[in-house]
Amino acid sequence: MNPTVKYEITKRLLTANGQPLSGQQLADDFGLSRTAIWKHIKELEEEGYEIETIKKKGYVLSSSPDSLQAAKINQYLTTKRFGHTIHYEVSCPSTQPIAHQMAQSGAPDGSIVVCEEQTAGKGRMARVWTSTQGKGIWMSVIIRPEIPPTKAPQFTLVAAVAVTRAIEDIADVRAEIKWPNDLLINGKKCTGILTELQADMDRVHAIILGIGVNVNQQVTDFPEEIQSIATSIQMVTGKTVDRAELVARILHHLEIYTDLYVMHGFEPLKILWESYSCTLGKRIKAIMIHQQIEGLALGITSEGILQVKTDDGQIHGIYSADIEI
Ligand code: BTN
Repeated sequence: MNPTVKYEITKRLLTANGQPLSGQQLADDFGLSRTAIWKHIKELEEEGYEIETIKKKGYVLSSSPDSLQAAKINQYLTTKRFGHTIHYEVSCPSTQPIAHQMAQSGAPDGSIVVCEEQTAGKGRMARVWTSTQGKGIWMSVIIRPEIPPTKAPQFTLVAAVAVTRAIEDIADVRAEIKWPNDLLINGKKCTGILTELQADMDRVHAIILGIGVNVNQQVTDFPEEIQSIATSIQMVTGKTVDRAELVARILHHLEIYTDLYVMHGFEPLKILWESYSCTLGKRIKAIMIHQQIEGLALGITSEGILQVKTDDGQIHGIYSADIEI
């Protein structure tokens, strides 16, 4: 089966708004026989698409499976570049190495890798990221901004704002950002972002932005040890979210904010990040590999570095840490 034809048929079915698609028309458009088109339709049915065949009219889609296949995301895309190349896997160890590989082979700005399940999802600081099958968004985005590597940490904050805005748009719930880029709802983590780089001394070749969003999990979908600190959008709102629509919305904001950042620098994004932050103005503990700093989170610098004032009046710049509030 030709995957491009199957993708195009799926896209047409998803965007036909209940209008029948003529088998003959599809056959003519793709230069195939009607039997070949019918085989593609059967294959889609096996994947969970419910397709009615109306005599003399054609195929009508009655329902589609909850999946992150390219055609499902594509129907919601509003972007110029982001999400125009989609690599989809049902199951993989992690989307990050696949995205690294694609970036090295020249994948364009805004290409994504997305999957239903990760069997070895990676978190920050070499932690494990639980990625339950079909319940969340496990995605890596390849971004190629023309910036020096020193500016890359700011990008993590840009991504956090984009995902927060997307969750607000789609699920009507406001997440808060815990520095640098954990998204919390009601104090529990619903999104994590992992930023990895391909760069030389003075130029970023690609940022591989790993985004994990807990979308439709129930509490028992999380391992027991994180059940008290993790949450999902569904657990908070009681509503199931169309993950493909949320992916498209994340890409929408990510493209806008990436362009804003490249054109005007971090300053406008810093203001947005601060408006969603739940870290600033609080007493926090910053846990680093070799030390801990406790004090008042004053703000972030124009480089995205967290400033903490300890009780002796000293101000410390925190570049990377786990934050306890
Ligand atoms: C964190 O520790 O908070 C960051 C979690 C990042 C998880 C995402 S899921 C998609 C991508 N692939 C991975 O293996 N990790 C990131």
